[in-house]
Amino acid sequence: MTSFDHTKYVPFKPVAIANRTWPDQEITTAPIWSSVDLRDGNQALVEPMTVEQKKQFFALLVDVGFKEIEVGFPAASQLDFDFVRWLIEEDQVPDDVYIQVLTQARPELIARTYESLKGAKKAIVHVYNSTSKTQREQVFRLDKEGIKNIAVKGAQCVKEHAEKHPETEWVFQYSPESFTGTETDYAIEVVDAVADVWQPTANNKIIINLPATVEVATPNRFADQIEYFCRNVKQRDSMIISLHTHNDRGCGVAAAELGLMAGADRIEGTLLGNGERTGNMDIVTMAMNMYSHGVDPELMLGDMDRIISVVQACTLLQVHPRHPYAGELVFTAFSGSHQDAIKKCLANQTDDKPWDVAYLPIDPRDVGRSYQEVIRVNSQSGKGGVAYTLEQEYGLALPRWLQVEFSPIVQQFAEQEGGVVNAKSMRNLFESSFMTGETPYKLGKYEHVKDDVDTVHAEITSTSGLVKISGTGNGALSAFSEALGKHFGIRVDIIQYQEHALTVGSDSQAIAYVQANINGDRFNGVAIDSDIVSASVQALVATVNQKITQHNETAVA
Ligand code: KIV
Ligand code: ZN
Repeated sequence: MTSFDHTKYVPFKPVAIANRTWPDQEITTAPIWSSVDLRDGNQALVEPMTVEQKKQFFALLVDVGFKEIEVGFPAASQLDFDFVRWLIEEDQVPDDVYIQVLTQARPELIARTYESLKGAKKAIVHVYNSTSKTQREQVFRLDKEGIKNIAVKGAQCVKEHAEKHPETEWVFQYSPESFTGTETDYAIEVVDAVADVWQPTANNKIIINLPATVEVATPNRFADQIEYFCRNVKQRDSMIISLHTHNDRGCGVAAAELGLMAGADRIEGTLLGNGERTGNMDIVTMAMNMYSHGVDPELMLGDMDRIISVVQACTLLQVHPRHPYAGELVFTAFSGSHQDAIKKCLANQTDDKPWDVAYLPIDPRDVGRSYQEVIRVNSQSGKGGVAYTLEQEYGLALPRWLQVEFSPIVQQFAEQEGGVVNAKSMRNLFESSFMTGETPYKLGKYEHVKDDVDTVHAEITSTSGLVKISGTGNGALSAFSEALGKHFGIRVDIIQYQEHALTVGSDSQAIAYVQANINGDRFNGVAIDSDIVSASVQALVATVNQKITQHNETAVA
């Protein structure tokens, strides 16, 4: 008998809200961001950060542009206490940054919290107690009044301590912890009581942080709770409404986004989403979502590799390769049709046009990634990826007909070798498949005479010696193909031809691509030379060589 039984769970009871307005709102400006990496993120780590790691992380948060940073829970951890002291005593906090510390609403913990903050220029004291039905009834065994009293006493204590230290610019923050599991009317009642103690004004606001301590419903239900709360709380104009979502249902970012549309002003979260259980909401994702809609997130996320490296070094957690905007593979396309579309769009994209590239919501260069990483070729890839790689790396702009011929060769190689085919292997494969103009036959001297008709006189060498051939036609290539036909007794018809100058890794060289039908079989030859006629003739020799090699024929002079 399995315990996998959905009937033991009950549906979430949504707040009753009429005429909700949030679905029609747009996010057009950045919220106030608060990083809780050094507190919530840290509390969730198997190995909490050392002071050195916290210092490194704090420096990153400042560089990214956070103006509010929750630096720890000093009353609960000596290490956090010492870190807060170091920040203050060593004058490590920029003048425009508020350090924020968390404390439970207990007098002895609040006293210790203020001890840690002595001498701070600006500080947010964040006090919380849990208000949900589950916690009231089973953890605290108190009724609604009892739980509200904890909040009110905590608020009084916070205020009294602050009054003793007017040298610091204090901001008070209250969280009804487990807000999403709290009856919204009751959460409002508790917050109103806290606000009555703190007496905020429009010029001296308090922060009311509404946590989805556990994410219990779809993000629209959370947004309903936020809009309902904002409409009904008494001193809304004197409050900064903050959201603190967790990711239990995988929607931490979505909930924060909809909550912002529903009236919130501030967002707490972590860089790349570390945090209790499935994590805090990921500020990188939410900020980059805004960025990709043309909204300035007011955070500098352009050096994504530094962010990843500091986060990984401090949390000892790996960033998933498919993490939105940051993962190693998120700008990489393996599938042929995606590669093809990306290649076409990138060719159209110019710096003066809005970004509009299929499959790439942002320009990878904005977060320090290069286009080289965009397309990777494996056995799932098609001609687009192959063509893109050869063009980006070597300047070879393969004509479409040759892309079609080459991509199955690459796919077969990828299947045999497994994994990704790098650019060098692809180039080797290309040369061995098509640049076969050296053996068994090789073009020696040649002369191209242009008259009413074109005439080509050429020397061809092989292990059996040297042969001179001549032919005429309406161009060098057709003259040479006639010469080949006459001498070798084969019929050579040119099906496709293309050439272009090479700009990567060569001085004034040209490349010629030829497809020929030789006695009913199709061959593709490619050659590079400083002289384009020579390149095209060599490319044709390459097709003949393939025919001879594939049919086990011997070269005869
Ligand atoms: O998740 C939570 O509810 C918290 C509070 C302390 C804000 O981290
Ligand atoms: Zn939390």
